[in-house]
Amino acid sequence: MILVTGGAGFIGANFVLDWLAQKDEPVINLDKLTYAGNLETLASLQGDCRHIFVQGDIGDSALVSSLLAQHKPRAIVNFAAESHVDRSIHGPEAFIETNVVGTFRLLEAAKAYWGELSGDDKTDFRFLHVSTDEVYGSLAKDDSAFRETNRYEPNSPYSASKAASDHLVRAYHHTYGLPVLTTNCSNNYGPYHFPEKLIPLMIVNALAGKNLPVYGDGQQIRDWLYVKDHCSAIRRVLEAGTPGETYNVGGWNEKANIDIVHTICKLMDQLRPRDDGRSYCEQITFVADRPGHDRRYAIDARKIEQELGWKPAETFDTGIRKTVQWYLDNQDWVRNVQSGAYREWVEKNYGRRAP
Ligand code: NAD
Ligand code: DAU
Repeated sequence: MILVTGGAGFIGANFVLDWLAQKDEPVINLDKLTYAGNLETLASLQGDCRHIFVQGDIGDSALVSSLLAQHKPRAIVNFAAESHVDRSIHGPEAFIETNVVGTFRLLEAAKAYWGELSGDDKTDFRFLHVSTDEVYGSLAKDDSAFRETNRYEPNSPYSASKAASDHLVRAYHHTYGLPVLTTNCSNNYGPYHFPEKLIPLMIVNALAGKNLPVYGDGQQIRDWLYVKDHCSAIRRVLEAGTPGETYNVGGWNEKANIDIVHTICKLMDQLRPRDDGRSYCEQITFVADRPGHDRRYAIDARKIEQELGWKPAETFDTGIRKTVQWYLDNQDWVRNVQSGAYREWVEKNYGRRAP
């Protein structure tokens, strides 16, 4: 089996759902259930004995060590993190706690566990750390896309905390030989994305008749990847990546924020026209910029494509259409997130269960 951390969040939950849809290898899912963790996303796995959910913190060394000793996973995939840049600007401490200290403690527990393994179990063990392209900093318009060899220049408390965690992961390989893999992915989008992030926020605000807040001039560029393509990349790196290596993951989809918002509005004009027949574009509002806002990210994904044969399945056009349709079809999930009712899911579904 494998141990997934942060598997109730956006990417982690998509990963767990896809993993169990494709194979019978069980998953222990360790998640603290912060505001971003939502077990309702995993409702289809209720009663599925291949999914063992444990509410807990990656920084709880005793808990992690006991999970490793009890379940003997062949790999750890670390998604657990504080992930929202705006929140890191208002309150960086939780980012340091989880992304830096939490990753450190997880590495320590993994090192101790791995140190006790022998034979193939030891050789085949992997610690896969899920990171971000934001660690490389901001690109100018004509700069080449980020390669794995770019130096780290993180600009926000979030990206600085992820950079620190990446350095720790690297050091545990270099110093102790822990078989680690790191993936640095660009912006994800798709089902179950918490509506604080650009794409889901624009969809749910549009539907609610609210403003669509575009930061600054809206010309910042992000490189978008459909979440299920990120999940397939992680599976591929876990299967065939070389320990100690890092892999940039992206779909060659650079878009300016304002273009993303227009695309969403136009899709919604087709799929769910406004009652007054006007375009959702009329709801776009330019607002004050994010402090320290990175101008452009772009991923050069040639290494993972050439060395591991990975390619995304979705284009931006197919992925964004699926995403808008998913939000239109899953209004209950959105409503429960917005009202906070998703947090009651834990008590309702797990409160009376034996551990
Ligand atoms: P998310 O915020 O949606 O989910 C994070 C999950 O981690 C939540 O379920 C939360 O409860 C859990 N968590 C937080 N602190 C924890 C702790 N101390 N112990 C255990 N669980 C904890 O994040 P996401 O967008 O799914 O991102 C997952 C990972 O991928 C993160 O490491 C992030 O840095 C990275 N990443 C995200 C993107 C993106 O576009 N969303 C892109 C590249 C990389
Ligand atoms: O690049 C990968 C990163 O992508 C991940 O590591 C992060 O975890 C993830 O949150 C994401 O970070 P961003 O800051 O790029 O994502 P966000 O959705 O917050 O913002 C995307 C862009 O849209 C960014 O340029 C800011 C802008 N924006 C965002 C919001 C929420 C707006 O213009 N208006 C908004 O309301």
